[in-house]
Amino acid sequence: MAPPIYSHLQITTDQACSLSEIHFGIVGAAIPLAGEVDFNFRIKTSDELSYILKVSRPGMDYDYVDFQLKILLHLVGETSELTVPKIILNKEGNPYSTFTDHFGEVRLVRMLSWIDGRLWSTVHPIKDELLYSLGKAGGEITMALQSFHHPFAKRAFEWDIDQALWIENYFHLFDSDQNIIVSHFLKKFIAQKNHLGQLRKSVIHNDTNDNNILVSDKSTHPEVVSIIDFGDAVYTSTINDLAISIAYAVMEKPDPLAASLHIVKGYHKKFVLQDAELKVLHLLVAMRLIISVTKSARNKIAEPNNEYLLISEKPAWALLRQWIDVDEHLAYYSFRNACGMIPHPNQSSFNIWAKDHPFGISDLFPTTGITEASHIDMSVGSTWLGHRVDFTDNDLMACRISAWTKKHPDTMVVNGYLETRPFYSTNAYRKEGNHGPLYRTAHLGVDFWLDGHTPLFAPLDGVVFSIYNNDQDKDYGPTIILKHKFGTEKSFFTLYGHLSKSSLVTVSVGQSITKGQHFGSIGQADENGNWSPHLHFQIILDMLGNIHDFPGVAFPSEIDIWKSICPDPNIFLTQQALLPKDQLQQTELIQYRTNHLSGSLSLSYAEPLHIVRGEGAYLIDKTGRRYLDTVNNVAHVGHEHPRVVKAGQAQMALLNTNTRYLHASINQLAESLLSTLPPELCVVHFVNSGSEANELALRMAYNFTGQHDMLAFEVGYHGNTNACIGVSSYKFDGKGGKGKPKETHLVPLPDTYRGIYRGTECGLKYAAHVEAILQQLASEGKKIAGFIHESIISCGGQIELPYGFLSNAYQSIRDAGGLCIADEVQTGCGRLGSHWWAFEQHGVIPDIVTIGKPLGNGHPLAAVVCTRAVADRFANGMEFFNTFGGNPVSCAIGIEVLKVVREEGLMQNALTIGNVILSDLKMIQDEFPIIGDVRGAGLFLGFELTDENLCPLEKQSTYLANRMRTMGVLMSTDGPDHNVLKIKPPMVFNHENADELITRLRQVFREDAMQDG
Ligand SMILES: Cc1ncc(COP(=O)(O)O)c(C=O)c1O
Repeated sequence: MAPPIYSHLQITTDQACSLSEIHFGIVGAAIPLAGEVDFNFRIKTSDELSYILKVSRPGMDYDYVDFQLKILLHLVGETSELTVPKIILNKEGNPYSTFTDHFGEVRLVRMLSWIDGRLWSTVHPIKDELLYSLGKAGGEITMALQSFHHPFAKRAFEWDIDQALWIENYFHLFDSDQNIIVSHFLKKFIAQKNHLGQLRKSVIHNDTNDNNILVSDKSTHPEVVSIIDFGDAVYTSTINDLAISIAYAVMEKPDPLAASLHIVKGYHKKFVLQDAELKVLHLLVAMRLIISVTKSARNKIAEPNNEYLLISEKPAWALLRQWIDVDEHLAYYSFRNACGMIPHPNQSSFNIWAKDHPFGISDLFPTTGITEASHIDMSVGSTWLGHRVDFTDNDLMACRISAWTKKHPDTMVVNGYLETRPFYSTNAYRKEGNHGPLYRTAHLGVDFWLDGHTPLFAPLDGVVFSIYNNDQDKDYGPTIILKHKFGTEKSFFTLYGHLSKSSLVTVSVGQSITKGQHFGSIGQADENGNWSPHLHFQIILDMLGNIHDFPGVAFPSEIDIWKSICPDPNIFLTQQALLPKDQLQQTELIQYRTNHLSGSLSLSYAEPLHIVRGEGAYLIDKTGRRYLDTVNNVAHVGHEHPRVVKAGQAQMALLNTNTRYLHASINQLAESLLSTLPPELCVVHFVNSGSEANELALRMAYNFTGQHDMLAFEVGYHGNTNACIGVSSYKFDGKGGKGKPKETHLVPLPDTYRGIYRGTECGLKYAAHVEAILQQLASEGKKIAGFIHESIISCGGQIELPYGFLSNAYQSIRDAGGLCIADEVQTGCGRLGSHWWAFEQHGVIPDIVTIGKPLGNGHPLAAVVCTRAVADRFANGMEFFNTFGGNPVSCAIGIEVLKVVREEGLMQNALTIGNVILSDLKMIQDEFPIIGDVRGAGLFLGFELTDENLCPLEKQSTYLANRMRTMGVLMSTDGPDHNVLKIKPPMVFNHENADELITRLRQVFREDAMQDG
């Protein structure tokens, strides 16, 4: 309710304090609170107790006051999980007092207990669990009020959905677009009058808006703790209360229906809903919104300057615009599903009928003479489908299908029901869900793969419902839909897609068809735009208002509903279309890992991902959801880059052996690699991993100098072999580490943001530590083997070396007789954009460079490149044999990777996109000061979360990475304090990807959990 607010009625905080003391004997400070009817104050006493003081407007209806008080009294002890405000009696033991204000008006004053919590309107984000909790809270109140009766409850009230017809008089307040929406729902409301009249009735809260719901304090799992303000309670259809909760709580959600289902589920848990109620719930949500916007439109005229009154108008209209696009039947089935019912009410009876009317391949395609089905896996993770460039090549796929058919002449490939397919994992099938993007990948029909022009025969009696030449959508071709009757008065549809053009005239709409009648034929590939002729066969229990066509794929998150609307065609089929065998559940995969793989293997994210495919900057999970990968610098030129894949496949088909035979590829790769390096670095050794490369580099340094003492950075990481762990402070100083070996000497992490020296000028100060270590060793009579370092320290938290550090450090090391080893495992192959190798940024030339991750684009390929002098001393007679290192397959892959970097201009791309991300991050740093530092170069970036005292915020960083994963962006944290978010994506990361990253970051930074810094 929103009556006008007159300033002379206002109560000051001083007045509130004295009213509290005079009438209730409670002394405390008064803090004004929002309120539409009453003037509300929080009274806070010196011993930290709180109460709510409510002062009425003049002319209070005592029946109304009594009604509200009785509700509160009734609720005491009736709710188990919710706290309900208690009435505090006045000094005389009455639930309220009256007083006369300065204008001689009698006012009423009441006191209620205070409930700790924050208003729903201040909580961000509203997660699914909280929606569920709201549902439970609403259900609990509804349940508790079932036995409540009061004469005032049966009042005339505009906010009561049952009485919504008053809005008919206000159509003139809306523009034409708004009118379409209002009249659409109003017509349905009028048409449903009888149905609505028969629904259960009771007193309901009737106003669970954002400011009447209290949520527990900031925790990872906030819950609704109370629903307050029963001022709008009314006797009406019970289901209206749920409709109202939904109407407010799903505003501003990209997918309001999906959000509403959590509320329905929670509500049903506490108060069992009836089918008749669920049937109209979608309509009732709309009606509440329409009441709200009509009242706003009217109030706008009465009080044009009162913004409070208009507060929910915009989001209410926005939701109405979304809600009208939600099919009411789909909503009904979804609500049923949320309540644990079978989504489509006819599904069980259909299943029984269908089992009695089986048919098979020989009924549909008798001319083929085929009676057996075989199966090809076309799911997202199918190795038969292979790369996108393969399965989008129509000629190639037609060839492959036909080769299969030739090999299995007595069978027909039948597949696809509920298969999640990679064809649909593209932007054309994408929508914004409540947690990032979703893809409509789950196939709702069965496909029969066979020759074009094969005649098609009706498997059941029916009537031609529609014939449609779907030539706008090249992927579909002509479609015929037949309608069939079953049981008494029930019907279902069978859809036949990818037909030939000639099928358009074989039969006509409305024509009766008998089982076994020829009514169309399969389209040739060029007629239906597919790789290979096939029939898409789908069963549909409800056309959901569609006439010619019907969605053939659904969002996996909605699959329970869609598989009920489109039941499994296998129920009819005598030859079953098998599902791919590999349908292992996530839990089974985790269980096996736990039991049989090393406990020291970790999984990323609180909710681990099951990835089955990679494409460019994306990883794709087994449901076909794409995740933007900002972490994986191994997939240097993009996940499964088609040229790299082909190069590896081609060489693998020909030869893979060790380096003891002559082969051109090892020379070519060496040549290609050396052309990116200074001429001093001229000898290559191929190995299989970054660790192996560093192990070999260390061995070379030991061998060259005859020494074992090495300098390395604090928090540095160089690999998992014994020697590498020995120079990796990240490991030996980390969890499970045994501390520094005596031959390792640590240089402080040259962190210019939070390190021991800060600012841009501190390079020399850090370099002085190198010199100090060397002097200390010299004083002990020791010499060194060398210094191993990254030029941007990755595990250390993307720490860029300060200017002047490396050149001075190199000088000192060399003066002491040591070698300089640059570990380019993370930073190499052009990632920084400006240079091929990160050491080049500092104008130095190492004695040894180690290269790993990016060189093989995910294939195990690494290299050690050194000077002639180092190489010659290493080749002391002992053979350097490496079974796999430098094999032709690895080399073919490495050659292609370097070619792609060059030919696709990926270094330039890294520079351009890296700079865009850097500047965007710096921009949002102003908006979100929790971002303490932004750093890096090219596509090797990082940002650090700190509070105002530069203290690291690990909790927020972990939250951010996990939330970003939920929103479809993969990020990882690192650094000694786990508060640095690393950005080192595949080098094909483009502008659109950068925008997506920044947009999602902004979204998550706005969330409550990120504001705690
Ligand atoms: C800087 C650096 N060096 C070496 C390695 C070891 O490489 P790999 O895991 O290929 O053995 C890593 C791995 O993360 C690394 O980050």
